[in-house]
Amino acid sequence: MELDRLSIGVFNVRGTFVAVLNVCPHELAPVCLGPVRGTTLASLPGEYCWGREGEILACPWHGWEFDLLTGKALVDPRKHLRRYQVRVREDTVYITIPQGQ
Ligand code: FES
Repeated sequence: MELDRLSIGVFNVRGTFVAVLNVCPHELAPVCLGPVRGTTLASLPGEYCWGREGEILACPWHGWEFDLLTGKALVDPRKHLRRYQVRVREDTVYITIPQGQ
């Protein structure tokens, strides 16, 4: 969705609504255009376990993965998506945009 001049993606992660700025912290790609999927989980050498389906947003440019529930990049948790407060009342989703953004 577009609000003022901001592009914001709203995701329903298993019933939890999450709103993030459509800008990747790596090189500013429109991250919300990437697929929402799972990721490989920590596992023993030689094993590849897939999990967290529907919780991970992958950037369409270079594939950085972001935990939609925290906004943090899986590769480096110091990098994160800009998130906005979301409230749901009845059937309407409200997003709070801080002043000056
Ligand atoms: S711009 Fe998103 S991973 Fe590079």
